[in-house]
Formats: sequence, C-alpha cells, structure tokens
Amino acid sequence: MSRRSLALPVILDGDPGHDDAVSFLLALASPELDVLGLTSVFGNVGLERTTRNTLITRELSGHAVPVYAGADRPLLDARISAEGVHGASGLDGPHLPTPSGGVEDEHAVDFIVRTVRAHAEPVTLVPTGPLTNIALALRLAPDIAGNISRIVWMGGSTDTGNWSPAAEFNALADPHAAQIVFTSGVPITMIGLNASHQAIAHPARVQAFRDLGTPVGAFVAVLLEFFAEHHRERYGWDGGALHDPLTVAWLLRPELFTVRPMHVQIDLSGGPSHGRTVADVWNVTGHEPNADVMTDVDADSFFALLVERIATYR
Ligand code: RIB
Ligand code: CA
Repeated sequence: MSRRSLALPVILDGDPGHDDAVSFLLALASPELDVLGLTSVFGNVGLERTTRNTLITRELSGHAVPVYAGADRPLLDARISAEGVHGASGLDGPHLPTPSGGVEDEHAVDFIVRTVRAHAEPVTLVPTGPLTNIALALRLAPDIAGNISRIVWMGGSTDTGNWSPAAEFNALADPHAAQIVFTSGVPITMIGLNASHQAIAHPARVQAFRDLGTPVGAFVAVLLEFFAEHHRERYGWDGGALHDPLTVAWLLRPELFTVRPMHVQIDLSGGPSHGRTVADVWNVTGHEPNADVMTDVDADSFFALLVERIATYR
C-alpha cells in the first residue's frame, strides 16, 4: 500500500487567517495525513479573502490539493469578522504570492458530502473557523455522520471568550452551526481558548522558524510577528496564541495534549453569553459528554513538532 493510503484521510476547513494558514501548512507537511481537500469559510475576513488566502497557502505548500469555497455568512446571525487581528487581507504581514491555481467549481459543502459519502474509510474533518460548512453538510446529508470519524475543531472555550466576554470568535461567528455540530452525535475534539492560550508564539519560538533559512520558514515567522501585535495590545503577551495548528498537532501527536470528555452546550440566548460553549467541566449536570475537550498543552513539544514539519518545505 502507498504511504498515502495508510494515512488518515482529512478535510481541512478554515478561515485563513494567520493560524489557519500555519495549520494547513502543518497538515500538508505531515505524511500521516491524507489531505483530501481544503475548504474555505467566512470568518476572520470575508469569504473572497479567506478563499484567496487558502489558495495562497496551497501555493506556498507546493501541494496540488484541491480548494473549495464555502459559506459566505452564518446560518442566522449577522456576519462578524476580525480584520483588527488579521489585517484587511486576512494574512497581513508577509508578502503574499499570487496564487497560480483557482478554486474548484464545486461548493465546499457539496465537496464535503460527496467525499465523505464516497470514502472507503471514515474521514476526519478539521474545521478551524466558524462551523457553517460542517453544519450545512450535516443538514444537507445527515447520512454522512456515519462516515465522519471525528470533527477536530478549534473553537469555543471552557472559560472566557475573546470576541465577547463569554464567547470565542469561531463559536460566536455561527453559534447555530455549532449547535448543529455539537448535537450531531459525531465524535468531537474541541480545542478552545483555554488550551490555545497555552501555545504562545513568543519571540524565541518565532526565531526558530526564521532560523530554518527557508522561504516557508520566513513566511511563518513574519505571519507570527504580525499576529503577535494584537495579542500584545489586548493581552500584554509577547506573542500570538497559535490556536488552529493545535488541531492537526493533536491528530499527529495526541500524547502532547490532555483532553477530557465533557458535555458542551451552545448558548443561543441572544444575550450577553450568546455563542458561549458552555462546557460542563465538573460534570455537574450529569449529561452524557458530547465532546473531548482539550485542557492541557505541552507547548514546547508542540512548537518543536511545528518547526520540524515546517522545516520540510524547501
Ligand atoms: O478565536 C480564535 C479563532 O478564531 C482562530 O481559529 C482564528 O483563526 C479565528 O478563526
Ligand atoms: Ca481560524
């Protein structure tokens, strides 16, 4: 069997976005994964730019993985975005190459449905933005739930939010989509801010990418230096929280992390906690867990893995 045929089939869905781009690069550099496609969704910036940024990231990777554009707005709520964090382009900081290839004609949701239905083994979905594409796929084709191995999502938080006092950006951007996913019965790994705020790309960690002396290493270093600015201003940290690549890293090296089964419900009240992922950390409700929630990160080993894989780009 070929190397790829032993690899875990995954679809990466995101809103690049600095950390989504690094997550895509990590996955594409990891032979343990068979990346079946990249799907874009609105989020950090509008869909046109998250799609362009997905194409740019593919260009940098040198991999001929197909790209599909998805939802341009949430299911019900008004669209929010994070240009203040990621810049107008969504990937401010480094020089952005002009992508040579384009997106596929097929909508991302149709691609997800078709691919999950047809794949000989269950497919792992790795969303790192709002869950709109995943929710639409589950509503369009409920049968696919049986061939989704797991949804590994960067989003939510077991404690405070970053876009409201209660809600994390990806969850708040489409809480109704999150509700559909978290009530779908599909196994979920939730990687929230409580975990990702343990993975700070401080200057020494950024320098490790620059020290690679490669174009992709330099690109990642400049991305992370720009990404740090928001976190310095907002939190007083000396680096950005590298949220999204934790999803791929967990798939590659789960022993670097701690996850705990918890019941998670989504606040859809429309009030001050709207979009909050209400995680029953101490099992006070007795409700059956519906997610494996990340609680701890071995940050040094995570960054070592990331540098090791980014180093494979020449
Ligand atoms: O709250 C952080 C998350 O929101 C990350 O996925 C970031 O890329 C944005 O999508
Ligand atoms: Ca993201």
